[in-house]
Amino acid sequence: MTETTAAPTIGAQAAGGTPPPKKETEQERQDRIRAVLEQHRREQCRVLAMCNQKGGVGKTTTTIQLAGTLAEYGRRVLVLDGDPQRNATTGFRVRPPGPNDLTQAKVVLDALDPLPLIRETNVPGIYVLPASIDMSGLSTALRDTGTGLRLYRIMVDKLRPFFDDILFDQRPALDMDTDSQLVACDGAIIMTDVDEWSMEGLKMQLAQQSRAMRRAERDDFDVIGLIIGRVQKPMGKFDAEVYKLLQSHPRVRCLGEIPVRAADLKEARNKGLPVTHYKKTARTDTAEFFRGIAVNAGLVKAA
Ligand SMILES: Nc1ncnc2c1ncn2[C@@H]1O[C@H](COP(=O)(O)OP(=O)(O)OP(=O)(O)O)[C@@H](O)[C@H]1O
Ligand SMILES: [Mg+2]
Repeated sequence: MTETTAAPTIGAQAAGGTPPPKKETEQERQDRIRAVLEQHRREQCRVLAMCNQKGGVGKTTTTIQLAGTLAEYGRRVLVLDGDPQRNATTGFRVRPPGPNDLTQAKVVLDALDPLPLIRETNVPGIYVLPASIDMSGLSTALRDTGTGLRLYRIMVDKLRPFFDDILFDQRPALDMDTDSQLVACDGAIIMTDVDEWSMEGLKMQLAQQSRAMRRAERDDFDVIGLIIGRVQKPMGKFDAEVYKLLQSHPRVRCLGEIPVRAADLKEARNKGLPVTHYKKTARTDTAEFFRGIAVNAGLVKAA
């Protein structure tokens, strides 16, 4: 280890102009610069939860499609599958870990290195951190630790330096695991469908998010907006009223809507691809809806 009396200029620049300590070993200098550079990358990464405790509203489908849009824009995306149903994992044709493998639940509970969990997909730029069956007991296990609310954040912070965006596909629940996942995120996109129960679900989701953030002493959580999924037109009078309320929700901005496009979405999913990367679909406008939403959400700039 070499001793230096004055660190080279790059050290001072990397530290944002703060002069380095007078006596700094070469190792200390390298560690300091690495920490500053990693911090810079960490701040670049955006971590968003795709959530709603109401089931089947299109959270996973939209997560996969938005990942496709972000990858189109050259961003490096991690789809973090937070649901033991593992749909985001298998949706990219990634094999979920078995009971004897390292799993997300083990990594979160024991604060292990999450990088060995990361899998490549068939889409350049999209990676998956798979879910596993053992996550079905995670909520209780997190509660038992007494510090469960903060444990997902430890894992996610280790992943931030490697990605531009992390999309967290949540399970349909309001529980300790979903709270811990939310606390790890910078913000959320709430997925909904046109249904009276969705209005109720949205209210509960917002209340739960506020509670979790208060408990985690965070006041910087950004509810980016809501997406109305599986929209079918024309709609009946009652649905039309719910639709109008969702579009002009007093607390959450509507980012856009996704019409029912079962054939396109399922055909692409069958190949483990987002529609953006599966061109041979019968309709060509499906990917456009997700691109529009990504722009409205401020995830990418309009091309
Ligand atoms: N725009 C759409 N057009 C047609 N089908 C859709 C659309 N969005 C989602 N679906 C279908 O609806 C079902 C539920 O969607 P998805 O699994 O994405 O919802 P989810 O909110 O993630 O569900 P869960 O709460 O169980 O995690 C799936 O079969 C999916 O293929
Ligand atoms: Mg899902």
